[in-house]
Amino acid sequence: MLLTSGLISRLLSERKLAAMQAGREFLETHSTDELLKLVGQRIKGISATDPEDKLVLPSCYGGGQPSQGEDYLVGKGLFYITEEGRLFLDCTSGHYQMVWGYNHPQLCRAVEEGQKAGIVWDNHSNIPQAPVKCLANRLVALANAPDGSHSIDKALIGICTGTSACAAALKMQLCSYQRSRGDKGPPIMVVLDGNYHGTDMFTQYLRGMWREYLTNLEVISVQPNDRGQLQNVFNQYGERIAAFWAEPVMMKREAILVEPDYLRLAGECCDAVGAALCIDEIQTGFWQPGILYSPSIGVKPDMIVVGKGMTAGFHPLSALLFNSKYDILEQYDALNTNGGAALASYVGLCCLDMVESVSEQIVSVGDQIMSGLSSLATQFNDRIQQTQGFRHLAGLKFRQVEDALDFHRRAVESGLWIRAHAYHQGHSTVLTKLGLLADEKIVDYMIAGFRSLLQN
Ligand SMILES: Cc1ncc(COP(=O)(O)O)c(C=O)c1O
Repeated sequence: MLLTSGLISRLLSERKLAAMQAGREFLETHSTDELLKLVGQRIKGISATDPEDKLVLPSCYGGGQPSQGEDYLVGKGLFYITEEGRLFLDCTSGHYQMVWGYNHPQLCRAVEEGQKAGIVWDNHSNIPQAPVKCLANRLVALANAPDGSHSIDKALIGICTGTSACAAALKMQLCSYQRSRGDKGPPIMVVLDGNYHGTDMFTQYLRGMWREYLTNLEVISVQPNDRGQLQNVFNQYGERIAAFWAEPVMMKREAILVEPDYLRLAGECCDAVGAALCIDEIQTGFWQPGILYSPSIGVKPDMIVVGKGMTAGFHPLSALLFNSKYDILEQYDALNTNGGAALASYVGLCCLDMVESVSEQIVSVGDQIMSGLSSLATQFNDRIQQTQGFRHLAGLKFRQVEDALDFHRRAVESGLWIRAHAYHQGHSTVLTKLGLLADEKIVDYMIAGFRSLLQN
């Protein structure tokens, strides 16, 4: 059935709508098995005859040019079709955020039911609607260690993307430092080399940008998993350290797994000098059987940042979970002026429930991904150095950067949408982050596809 709503066809054009509709019908009437057989192929009868050009979009996001048909037309679950009608298996969950793939029916229904029930998209943050409070309470409960010791008892919700939540954490850390140790000199943030905590100036400053513009804040980068170096830095700078930041799996640095032991040591170092342990779970969160990763490895952060997966690619929402001793900002110091995003919070609650309902599968499929990649690393040892990451957040590190780039190019050509980290000195890794809809069959397909690319 063709969508004929006047408004949508007026805003998008009849032809664009028809292409989207044809793609949707195709995806809905084909089983996973049937779709897997067609990955990489152009699907007959589906193409956007008038793709919108993207001249006004920034070049760094592929803009500044007419559309070549490579852009997203329509998707369902783990599959999507491009404007030229090519079928892809998305092995990275969009941009690492779509826990349940594209437009999961349960979440779409939740949006409709929520609105019917009176949940608003947004309202003033001083009068949060029930879903915001429910989500805050659930996240705080999940953030604490199973032994009942409470290190997290506050949640700041209603801040759009992960960057804003990370920036809020930084401000709390600075304010707290200023109050308690401001006389000791400029504060220091200890971060991991290759960190990524967002796109505003402050969070980019942590990874070396804008250094000449921000002053009186020092950043010391340490190598992930180098325990000796971490201890030396804490011994040397002691109470001048305001916080230690880490992402448990560094999805912006070749999916390096930061070892649990190392994070526990970082916690001890922070406790010894009064620094905040801040764990950025924007990537790991909502991809774990227990939603968050830190409690599962016995790490008790003062702050945990979540985002991306929390609302599964629906309305972006992030949260900062923290200890009440950092509850020291004034209104508008950190929150934006949008409110608590009640409907998005409701989607977050639904997503949380859905993740919990597949906790066993997360482990088994995650382990299958890692063992599949390890088997490739063994078989193609001449080109692959090792596997990296943890369960769904996985990387295949090549010995040569050219091999990683070539593999990435050919994988995308064959319809497997994956990412490559091979543009910085020493980086030579391809990455996957399959959504939680992926089952044994999907993983087998992806690994077999990789094997065939490595053989040819
Ligand atoms: C670990 C980590 N922190 C922070 C961010 C920033 O989140 P956002 O892009 O939603 O602002 C990202 C985004 O990829 C991330 O991976």
